[in-house]
Amino acid sequence: MLAAEAGNFYDEYPFDWTERYRPAELATVISPVLIRLLDRLAPNAFVLDVGCGPGRVMTYLAYRQIRALGVDRSFASVVLMQQRCQLPGIVADNLALPLAGGTADLVISDGVLHHTEDPALAFAELCRMLRPGGLLFLAVYRPGGHYEWLYHFPGSVFRRAVRHRLTRALVHATALPLYYLVHVLRSPRKRSWRGARNLFYDYFVTPRVHFLRRDTIEQWCRRCGVRLVEFHPRPIGNVQAFVIEKQ
Ligand SMILES: C[S@@+](CC[C@H](N)C(=O)[O-])C[C@H]1O[C@@H](n2cnc3c(N)ncnc32)[C@H](O)[C@@H]1O
Repeated sequence: MLAAEAGNFYDEYPFDWTERYRPAELATVISPVLIRLLDRLAPNAFVLDVGCGPGRVMTYLAYRQIRALGVDRSFASVVLMQQRCQLPGIVADNLALPLAGGTADLVISDGVLHHTEDPALAFAELCRMLRPGGLLFLAVYRPGGHYEWLYHFPGSVFRRAVRHRLTRALVHATALPLYYLVHVLRSPRKRSWRGARNLFYDYFVTPRVHFLRRDTIEQWCRRCGVRLVEFHPRPIGNVQAFVIEKQ
């Protein structure tokens, strides 16, 4: 799949499901590892959220009055993010960021790298953005967990089904309402139908997911001259989180 096609996917189904959360409540749906890094930032620190989507984390950064720039390949997501939090954003690819390197105190890549065509190249780009002593917060899906199975099956069935009008209607009339019901039960009043639909598409239909192992990330760290300082196998949901420092 071409980069443009992957960008279009999130234009049609942005990762947009937190519109009912007040900014302060967003801390409950952000990784505790990331919250801790934000708590430790110096007053004038600069944060880059690469793959910011419609601004789940950016809205929280605005609430905390943290200086930040959002970057995403999806135009629709960047527009939503800017409307929500009044922070600057640019449409760009994490494989080639149109920004001077060595500027960020914290780079955030939350649920993004595993969707990229070349995660190793994207990782190097994220590291390039860090100033010496700066930190990268990297959250990617865990390999070997139940989500890996769900993405491959029934995900592959859903991915094929949504390509055609009739089978897509069938998915929307069966699997999607069930998924919505689970969300209604798990988070009363917080997930709208549209939010659950966007999560369903991100979860099952997104065109590409790499399940990256810890030793792969460590290998990239050595290659990029950065240091893995924290590894959290299960901080929240289906992801694993890495905190990486540029020396
Ligand atoms: C699952 S969403 C996560 C959004 C946000 N980080 C969050 O956690 O709320 C993945 C986002 O990554 C973006 N994305 C995927 N590949 C990208 C790339 N190569 N460069 C920039 N953004 C990308 C998508 O457009 C989408 O908004």
